Amino acid sequence: MSNNLVEEFEGLIDRGSKEEFLLRQIDPARLPSHIAVIMDGNGRWASRRSLPRVAGHRAGAEAVRSTVESSARLGLECLTLYAFSTENWKRPRLEVTALMGLLKEFLRKELAILKKNNIRFQTIGREEGLDADVRRQVDHARRETAMNTGTLLTVALNYSGRVEIIEACRNLIDECARQGKNPSDITESDFEKYLFTAGLPDPDLLIRTSGEMRVSNFLLWQIAYSEIYVTDTLWPDFRQAALFAAILEYQKRERRYGDVKPAEKDSRVAAGVK
Ligand code: FPP
Repeated sequence: MSNNLVEEFEGLIDRGSKEEFLLRQIDPARLPSHIAVIMDGNGRWASRRSLPRVAGHRAGAEAVRSTVESSARLGLECLTLYAFSTENWKRPRLEVTALMGLLKEFLRKELAILKKNNIRFQTIGREEGLDADVRRQVDHARRETAMNTGTLLTVALNYSGRVEIIEACRNLIDECARQGKNPSDITESDFEKYLFTAGLPDPDLLIRTSGEMRVSNFLLWQIAYSEIYVTDTLWPDFRQAALFAAILEYQKRERRYGDVKPAEKDSRVAAGVK
């Protein structure tokens, strides 16, 4: 094994495997700083196996474990996972309870792995809507990993992009009133300070599993210029090979942020003058 990334995965991936083949093609100098994931397809994974939906979520938690550890080994700055939206409360009570139980179990069992991999943990979303025991577990993991300096793992829990934007507006308006600031002086960076994600870079890459072409109220402000990658892989099947394939696709994209290619900057090129 030769490139640095392959060394980082020593013991996690097999020599000569498809994973190693993909990993070798990743350019370590052009990794996305922030990957955000809409984890979808747990229910379909379960129904294809005639299993209850909760079994799909349990298998999904394994994919979370794998993706978190791989992100740390890759040295990603941020990984943000959409675990529970404000709309998910509409699901059957037993499913909601099972999802919260899986989150608590993950935080209890994987805390050692988070620490070992220097991962810092936090959540975004309306914490006050969560049960006290979930909040306690979340708080414990956050405190226990607060001094870590590696990958920042953010789990979106009771999260809604629209609620986040409305709350930011309310808080910013309050601040303007307190400080006598003129609303016409508000900048994008003033606004961003009031988002749940304040201080995080915007996602470079947004991955959605299970083939659905929707953003489902996730990080609506922050994904303005994210590269979107949709894979048919169902979330419980999302492992290293799927993550590496997403990063490779990202590295093929050319990000222009609304600009043109440097070679097209010349106004004569734009006008079609030969
Ligand atoms: C979407 O699949 C998935 C969710 C709503 C929950 C994601 C939760 C986990 C992966 C497990 C626990 C999380 C952590 C952070 C440990 P779906 O049920 O909508 O699938 P479907 O569209 O096929 O029905």
